[in-house]
Amino acid sequence: MEKLVITGKTPLKGEVTISGAKNAAVAILPATLLINGKCRIENLPNISDVRSYCDILKEIGAKIEWVSENEITIDTTKIDSNKIPIDTTRKFRASYYLLGALLGRCKSAQIGVPGGCNLGPRPIDQHIKSFEALGATVDVSNGNITAKTKKLKGTSIYMDIVSVGATINAMLAAVLADGITTIDNAAKEPHIVDVANFLNTMGADIRGAGTDIIKVRGVKELKGGSTYSVVPDQIEAGTFMIAAIASKGDVIIKNCITKHLESIIAKIEEVGGNVDANGDHLRVWYTKRTHKANIKTLPYPGFPTDLQAQMGVLLSISEGTSYINESIWESRFQYTQELIKMGAKITVQGKSAVFEGINELVAAPVYASDLRAGAALIIAGIIAKGKTEIYNLNHIDRGYENIEEKFRKLGAKIERVEE
Ligand code: EPU
Repeated sequence: MEKLVITGKTPLKGEVTISGAKNAAVAILPATLLINGKCRIENLPNISDVRSYCDILKEIGAKIEWVSENEITIDTTKIDSNKIPIDTTRKFRASYYLLGALLGRCKSAQIGVPGGCNLGPRPIDQHIKSFEALGATVDVSNGNITAKTKKLKGTSIYMDIVSVGATINAMLAAVLADGITTIDNAAKEPHIVDVANFLNTMGADIRGAGTDIIKVRGVKELKGGSTYSVVPDQIEAGTFMIAAIASKGDVIIKNCITKHLESIIAKIEEVGGNVDANGDHLRVWYTKRTHKANIKTLPYPGFPTDLQAQMGVLLSISEGTSYINESIWESRFQYTQELIKMGAKITVQGKSAVFEGINELVAAPVYASDLRAGAALIIAGIIAKGKTEIYNLNHIDRGYENIEEKFRKLGAKIERVEE
């Protein structure tokens, strides 16, 4: 079993370059199934979720070549199956995009029920509702989801809940449908815009991505032949921003879109950190002890749930009493149990947590319960007194590229060791 061993109390200093966004990449890869040809994808994060997705696509006939560490060419001309077994789909959540993409391409698809981080119930009713509105019949039984139709027809879809996955899945299924599809109450995350930009580069006609209403005018086919570069990862950038302040450091974060980071910049400034944003990079630095803040996680442009745990680490050592309300996922406070082992004073009640700021965390063996909890525990290890050991690294490797190398370059004393 691998673990990370971190010797703490090191202020992070220097520069870090942000990778392509995980949650955009895991939607763009299945979106290639809608193309009749070959395309090139750059700035692809080399993380285990992306490698797993490439394996799935290869299994059903895609030809994928890694041109460099972060670049592939992918040819989906000869896809020979529209069935993906549960052994494959349960490995990660984003496998649900195979349903929208294969339905769009083949007019029928069967995939095993998706897996992913345990964040509480993760329903997909809005995905199913969207496919049905487009004219498909959907059946969920024996661990499989099957969707089929004779013809997908443009329609109006009103999302009852703002959902990243359902918005992207509806776009995927609508791209090759007959006529115009309107997605109302759509999610607005930067990766929604990125998937729409990718599809448009390949010949789709999608307007309004990034707003509440997305219009997809169905086209006959998507042609390959183009190159697309994945948007920088807003959550990875936010993770390093929080780590810079929590460790009392001074870090320049390169290859990010600062516009996507507004809610995070605002919170870091609110607790007393300093941020200088300059278009595609920013400097984040510490001058005085941070203080309390209240946070409610919300869909974009609100404060992202995917940075809640990292921010929880910072609030656990900030002066005063802070409150976090998690409005997206039911079980996203599991990391607080690990922080409590490190001396943090946190009380969780349902979807809310109270953080009584203490002076310092003290090292302990801790377990990552999910991807972002893992990133938060790395920050905790970097700022804690003593040697922290972090287990369950598979969660972290799913979504952060070369994480310990990036932190090491900033001065963190972090090693991956085999136990
Ligand atoms: N929801 C429903 N019905 C649906 C879909 C969602 O009730 O059909 C609810 C969910 O239960 C949740 C809320 O709507 O309470 C939002 O869920 P959403 O569909 O937006 O989440 P997702 O698409 O499953 C993506 C990211 C998550 C991120 C959320 C919220 C991917 C692969 N995953 O999940 O990322 O937390 O959006 O921003 O894009 C992560 O990266 O660590 C991660 C968990």
